[in-house]
Amino acid sequence: MKNSLFRKDIVTVESLTTEDVELIFEKTREMERLVKEKGGDDRLKGKIMAALFYEPSTRTFSSFIAAMQKLGGGIIPLNGMKNTSVEKGESFKHTIQVFSRYADCLVVRHPEPGMPAMAAGYVDMPVINAGDGINEHPTQALFDTYTIHKHFAGLDNLKVALVGDLKNGRTVHSLSQVLAKMGKNLFFHFVSPAVLKMPEEIKKIIKSSGTNFSETDNLSSVISESDVIYMTRVQKERFTDITEYERLKSFYMLEKKMLNNAKKRVIIMHPLPIAAGEISNDLDTDLRSVYLKEQLSNGLYLRMALLDLILRR
Ligand code: NCD
Repeated sequence: MKNSLFRKDIVTVESLTTEDVELIFEKTREMERLVKEKGGDDRLKGKIMAALFYEPSTRTFSSFIAAMQKLGGGIIPLNGMKNTSVEKGESFKHTIQVFSRYADCLVVRHPEPGMPAMAAGYVDMPVINAGDGINEHPTQALFDTYTIHKHFAGLDNLKVALVGDLKNGRTVHSLSQVLAKMGKNLFFHFVSPAVLKMPEEIKKIIKSSGTNFSETDNLSSVISESDVIYMTRVQKERFTDITEYERLKSFYMLEKKMLNNAKKRVIIMHPLPIAAGEISNDLDTDLRSVYLKEQLSNGLYLRMALLDLILRR
């Protein structure tokens, strides 16, 4: 397969074609085999990835670092821009230009929507969006889709419940678009409190791709017919009124006993972190839960795949 992603930015899911996503999935399977058989290799020796995280991160940051190192590459790991010249007032543009002189690709997380895309405009090397405010989280969406695809051996005819803060959650903004792009006859249940509904722009994109959805605030009503239950955290950092956050943070709490009528093959997903008990501990070790297992490993394999594709012809 021709590598259509060589030197490409990964800043929005909209820019990825179905062929691009298939290529990424094929490479992800190769990376899974590589890690399981040999741990990794040296194919990115001599290449450097700068991870510039202007917002907190555990998994996204660490798995990008691990992915680069498993392929023999080097890293400039900045988890938070504290102690850099950003504290002295250096502009975003200059910061990006500086790291482009040391690295071969940039992975950028930022609280403001659009900043990774902005960075991509400043430099002539690939930029990966690792989450930009409430906007998008393309790499999370790709490995979440990969996880679902792998479990069901495809994406067609699935019913996917996206639950929680659909207004501010960037993971569900990207995931709904990738799933709608890749799956035939897929159906979404958008489950949220009335004030945290999926944004109109995203619903428009989903509709125009021919995918249907329903909206409700009632999680119990969709459990029995869902193949995937994707829980999310209420995004505290996006609230100006903290009492409003406190009111909403535990709106949904998924417990084992709620799954009595669930489908046999259902999977429970969450991008993590679980912050306010939106999934109860009794599901952590449940065989239907993938959030502390496959979902994490697949994130590593898929990020290895992306780095390999954008850095090597
Ligand atoms: C998510 C994020 O940062 O958007 N976390 C992650 O990358 N796995 C989800 C979240 O913080 O709620």
